[in-house]
Amino acid sequence: MTEAQSLPLYPHRHLLGIRGLSPVDIELLLDRADAAVSISRQSEKKVSTLRGRTQINLFYESSTRTQSSFELAGKRLGADVMNMSVASSSVKKGETLIDTAMTLNAMRPDILIIRHQSAGAAALLAQKVGCSVVNAGDGAHEHPTQALLDALTIRRAKGRIGGLTVAICGDILHSRVARSNILLLNALGARVRVVAPSTLLPSGIADMSVEVCPTMAEGLKGADVVMMLRLQRERMAGAFVPSVREYFHYFGLDAKKLQVAKEDALVMHPGPMNRGVEIASEIADGPQSVIQEQVEMGVAVRMAVMEALLDPRRNQDQTA
Ligand code: CP
Repeated sequence: MTEAQSLPLYPHRHLLGIRGLSPVDIELLLDRADAAVSISRQSEKKVSTLRGRTQINLFYESSTRTQSSFELAGKRLGADVMNMSVASSSVKKGETLIDTAMTLNAMRPDILIIRHQSAGAAALLAQKVGCSVVNAGDGAHEHPTQALLDALTIRRAKGRIGGLTVAICGDILHSRVARSNILLLNALGARVRVVAPSTLLPSGIADMSVEVCPTMAEGLKGADVVMMLRLQRERMAGAFVPSVREYFHYFGLDAKKLQVAKEDALVMHPGPMNRGVEIASEIADGPQSVIQEQVEMGVAVRMAVMEALLDPRRNQDQTA
């Protein structure tokens, strides 16, 4: 039995978002991910927890970190992993998302990982297919495994999440990472600030239990964690394309702006990064940056999530 199998049973069949998870659910996934870090740091990185299980990665949007870490995570757990290349699939011939998913479902996978440009795509699939579904990012809605890996990175560096002040800075409006992080950090008792130009804040931000700060100086003052986000130009449809120089001047993270945060504040970025736009290279590569740790935790969190969803102790008919 692996360390993870001695942990309590995770009660859900799918991971569609952080919304709907209790603090206990989140902590359980983080505890499982801590165990998965140990596996990934061994010279022999492979266990057999998911031997005989089939994982399909279905990515309609580009990805470096999420897709490769889901693939590695599945392989480290012993699963058979298939990456569906949307670019060379019948999606290009007009097949709908549901028809594609039902086709894959007929091949009896155990878990389907989906990234899609539309909010709600993962939830829709979960109603149609017979296997577990993981949301690997749906439009500007949620990116739950990113929030979990961010939380794991913070918890391992700081020993806790409750009571910390986390500043999330940049394009909040278009960011599924920001939304999932706000939900998770609030659930675990962190104080969340968002820093953005007013044009890059969602209209419902006032209802999200965050402190809205118009300047980096206000947002970063005394912060334990500074999380930078890129401008998601692919979702802007020409609505907000400021001069890069001006954006960096006001909202880019450099050494001077970072000075007002705590001396040991963590600097995070989910990637992909635009150096010189939202973050200076010297900060991204500097001593406070935990960006590479985030990438490592991404594999562990995805191992933990898949092990938890496919836990053989759970009745397979149970629904989330
Ligand atoms: N953070 C993140 O989702 O990165 P990718 O788009 O490279 O997967």
